[in-house]
Amino acid sequence: MFKKPEIIVALDTKDFDSAKKIVDAIGEKILYYKVGLESFVLFGHKLIEYLKLNDKKVFLDLKFHDIPNTVSGAVTSAAEIGIDILNLHCQGGFDMMKTASDNLKSYCEKRNILKPILIGVTLLTSLDSKYFSEMKLNWDSTEDYVGFLARSARDAGLDGVVSSAKEVKYIKQICGENFLTITPGIRPAFAGNDDQKRIVTPGDAVKLKTDFMVIGRPITKHENPALAVDMIKEEMK
Ligand code: C5P
Repeated sequence: MFKKPEIIVALDTKDFDSAKKIVDAIGEKILYYKVGLESFVLFGHKLIEYLKLNDKKVFLDLKFHDIPNTVSGAVTSAAEIGIDILNLHCQGGFDMMKTASDNLKSYCEKRNILKPILIGVTLLTSLDSKYFSEMKLNWDSTEDYVGFLARSARDAGLDGVVSSAKEVKYIKQICGENFLTITPGIRPAFAGNDDQKRIVTPGDAVKLKTDFMVIGRPITKHENPALAVDMIKEEMK
């Protein structure tokens, strides 16, 4: 039986206290939180420590992209501070992905710590085929390019990719059922679209069999975040 997608709540804020309030208000209903660039730069370690203290799992969404040695250092440092999921850009190249993945595995084995789930970012959803002509890349479609990057990520030893829910089937066909997908752009029936364009409902995300759904504003901007979580879970039934 397919396990329902786990909800990851995106804590995108400049204010530590409001992030803390959201986590407290939601309590036991949510296990996973995403810490991204905006909050990480201002108070990242404080927030990660708070989440860990509350037995939460942390998705560190910093999308590493640098030379293989530097990205390896970053992913092993993330393992050291107890991060559960983290990501890097597939566009950093095969060597970067493989070196980071191999070093993360051997580092965690040696230190006897749990290996974080290592996820690749394929093509950012802010980009479309115009990017190919700008960068002089010879791809026919964004789907081909995303598929190529996902396959490279799998071959390099990554555990999965960030994708739209609509791409999950295609990615699982190419990379196998066990290759994980983390899916943002989810909008429950009660919420507005904000700036998300190609949205998917929680019910559809269940049907499309993604592994993790990232949901931010529909929960964090709701006057009652715990109730928003309950309503989302209801939509997933
Ligand atoms: O508030 P909302 O639910 O739109 O938040 C979605 C989260 O997922 C944000 O942190 C956003 O940066 C992230 N994200 C996204 N689309 C992607 C990759 C990440 O919305 N393709």
